[in-house]
Amino acid sequence: MRIVTEHLSYIYNERSPFATRALDDVSLTVEEGEFFGIIGHTGSGKSTFVQHLNGLLRLPSALKRRAKRGDTVLTVGEFDLADRKTDLRALRRKVGMVFQYPENQLFAETVFDDVAFGYKNFADGKPSQEETEAAVRDALTTVGLDYEAVKEVSPFELSGGQKRRVAIAGVIVTKPELLVLDEPAAGLDPLGKQEIMELLHTLHSSWCKTVVIVSHDMDEIAENCTRVAVFAEGRVKYVLPPRELFKRTEELLALGLDVPLTAKLTLALKKRGVEIDSDFTLEDFAEKVLARRRTC
Ligand SMILES: Nc1ncnc2c1ncn2[C@@H]1O[C@H](COP(=O)(O)OP(=O)(O)O)[C@@H](O)[C@H]1O
Ligand SMILES: [Mg+2]
Repeated sequence: MRIVTEHLSYIYNERSPFATRALDDVSLTVEEGEFFGIIGHTGSGKSTFVQHLNGLLRLPSALKRRAKRGDTVLTVGEFDLADRKTDLRALRRKVGMVFQYPENQLFAETVFDDVAFGYKNFADGKPSQEETEAAVRDALTTVGLDYEAVKEVSPFELSGGQKRRVAIAGVIVTKPELLVLDEPAAGLDPLGKQEIMELLHTLHSSWCKTVVIVSHDMDEIAENCTRVAVFAEGRVKYVLPPRELFKRTEELLALGLDVPLTAKLTLALKKRGVEIDSDFTLEDFAEKVLARRRTC
């Protein structure tokens, strides 16, 4: 699903003394098929932006009967989110949203019931018990859990990483075409992080055409994303492929953002008169350093 955003602004608690402008004239297009990254400081508007993509936060024109449609555009696939009449249920069947710390929203008595809830809530029509069971089994297996071993277990008895995976299973159980994840690896140990990223790649290379991921981990972004949007104070500062973005190491560091290890090494080498032109993945960086050594 292609995402088109033009001139999107959002203010929390508008017309109150606590009004906060969280998004300020954001224009951004994500093409179908991308693995799209969003980075930026805490409070830069990343979560507010992604919550628009499944209609959790709505545009004024979509909320008020008589609100004039401004110049704001927000479409996700065939869904026009500036339109009041957009079928949000149909949208949410196709757009899976994994919130920050999604395990906090687990509630059912068993892992099976939790994942089945996601399925029954969004599946087309009223699925049979067999269909539900097959979908839950498939989703739990996909996230790397042993269906038979966990289905009757209380989600609260699982480890942090397992809970996270159950929560993700509850979203992917309907096989959304677009998956949006807000810091899906936050708070996990390195192995847990790696497992989540591998899972996202498996999904992206099978049925989930488009992935949008909010992340603080620049190494992860450099390794995985087709393009990256940098948010700062509610605005989009850059939209670039990692190869271009991380050439601006000094600018990013001045903005207070981190850069991948490969970008720090590139900068350190440059200061010593050695220019390395890599795409900032570890593999390519190592390759280019070795090539350089051979020619010297
Ligand atoms: N529910 C809310 N009520 C009021 N202000 C909010 C709410 N959620 C976020 N904000 C404010 O909106 C701005 C953007 O926040 P957010 O989208 O959560 O940024 P990020 O995800 O990049 O950390 C911040 O100033 C934040 O304090
Ligand atoms: Mg956030």
